[in-house]
Amino acid sequence: MIWNDGLKIGVPLIDSEHKELCGRIDNLLAACSAGQGRAEIAQTVAFLQEYTVKHFSDEEKLQRSSGYPKCAEHKAMHEYFKAKVADLKASLEENGANVANVSETNYFLMNWLLNHIQKVDKELATYIKD
Ligand SMILES: [Fe+2]
Repeated sequence: MIWNDGLKIGVPLIDSEHKELCGRIDNLLAACSAGQGRAEIAQTVAFLQEYTVKHFSDEEKLQRSSGYPKCAEHKAMHEYFKAKVADLKASLEENGANVANVSETNYFLMNWLLNHIQKVDKELATYIKD
């Protein structure tokens, strides 16, 4: 289970969206362990692509409304994630899901999300609360 309360940043809307994202990645990892990764991955990636549009825009709105000084920097990281997911999706479509692109996708999703929440989103939350 990726999600734990230590990942909460203290903004309920953002926390619930992060929990949803972590849950989807959990499902994908569980499917991979059960040998169903190749069947599950296209759906997970499509879901994430759609859901992160809303999620990132919610975070960016929060940044603008609080006058957060690192908006542009934070947005650039969101754009990086979107571009990388689009690349992974293209590889999955072009080559079919295989061990290499499934593990690359799992690794990227889990790592990026955990790092981003713990460092960048928590920094934003600290700014908002101060
Ligand atoms: Fe973020």
